[in-house]
Amino acid sequence: MQKQILVTGGTGYIGSHTVVELQNSGFKVVIVDNLSNSEISVLSAIEKISGIRPDFEQFDLSDKTLTDAFFDKYPKIEAIIHFAAFKAVGESVEKPLEYYRNNLNSLMNLLDNMKRCGIAHMVFSSSCTVYGQPDILPVTESTPRKPAESPYGNTKAICEDILRDFCKVNSQTNCIALRYFNPIGAHPSALIGELPLGVPANLVPFITQTAAGLRKELSIFGDDYNTPDGTAIRDYINVVDLAMAHVVAINRLLNNNQKNNFEFFNIGTGQGNSVLQLVKTFIQVTGVNLPYKIVGRRAGDIEKTWADTTLANSELGWKAEKTLEETLLSAWMWEKKIRDIK
Ligand code: NAD
Ligand code: WQD
Repeated sequence: MQKQILVTGGTGYIGSHTVVELQNSGFKVVIVDNLSNSEISVLSAIEKISGIRPDFEQFDLSDKTLTDAFFDKYPKIEAIIHFAAFKAVGESVEKPLEYYRNNLNSLMNLLDNMKRCGIAHMVFSSSCTVYGQPDILPVTESTPRKPAESPYGNTKAICEDILRDFCKVNSQTNCIALRYFNPIGAHPSALIGELPLGVPANLVPFITQTAAGLRKELSIFGDDYNTPDGTAIRDYINVVDLAMAHVVAINRLLNNNQKNNFEFFNIGTGQGNSVLQLVKTFIQVTGVNLPYKIVGRRAGDIEKTWADTTLANSELGWKAEKTLEETLLSAWMWEKKIRDIK
């Protein structure tokens, strides 16, 4: 009997890749997404890759009545992967209430229904943003969290706290928060990938759009950091590797392998790469011209961070497998596909 998993935000960037891997692993998926930051055509792309069209319901999870009605309609759900959230750091500074309302209410509506319907398992999308600029690198799970730099970051910290407190009094509930580092790349089929609205704030979509001729040049924000080449360092994780971490986390929950009923894991490669390293690798693997210039630092940016993934490796038995080269190439193949570049 196939186990049914609810994937919220499942037509989004990370959600769509995870739905593919869940279906490939034999799970039955129902997606909830309000399409505020994704497109319905993603369902057909998922079907093309995995041979299965997931069930889909379009509504806003911050609406309690609609969320309750959804769970009444789908009584067989055994676990939830909760991706649905607003995620633009800059926008969250401009619209803090929208971010708190959407990200916190959606989680609480789901938790209410887990309790009401006896659903025991949730995997939650958290972020390395909860660590801010860590004092010691690499970042382990015992590295203290720092006060959030943005309302978006704060929603991730608060959601983790809500989960911790909820699990404390609901001993039958098991949750895993995955703290992603910087997800990049696309599915090797180039049928799904990241679809940023407007001018991309994140590095890799800006690189691929510049290479595709949509942007004049990439601005590298700062070359005076205390790093080997002066540009900032991040841990860039392939989105398919990241998707697989969710499958592994779901199996851990369903098989009752947890050490305690609220766990969190760093999900990264364990390697830091600078902005310039990324740019040079992109040029080298694609052979495409990428105009760039160095400009001043971006406000709110941290200097360097990368994950210690020992816990995820040993406890989850998960490890990032893709190289930076193939990941950047996959991002470029996706950009070429959506821009119809031969
Ligand atoms: P995304 O915007 O591509 O996907 C999120 C999806 O959720 C979208 O399809 C959107 O339409 C949907 N959604 C948002 N609010 C909703 C609501 N109230 N009801 C129903 N659907 C709603 O984002 P992503 O990059 O795939 O991120 C997924 C999750 O991972 C988010 O929680 C994000 O905060 C987290 N995360 C992302 C990154 C990153 O760099 N992409 C890093 C760390 C953590
Ligand atoms: C990476 C590096 C930039 C664009 C963000 C969120 C974080 C998490 C992941 C969700 C930085 C530099 C970028 C450009 C550049 N998301 N850069 N020129 O800032 O590490 O993290 O996404 O939880 O919360 O803050 O990712 O891709 O924006 O930047 O030089 O045009 O690239 O300064 O050093 P970031 P990013």
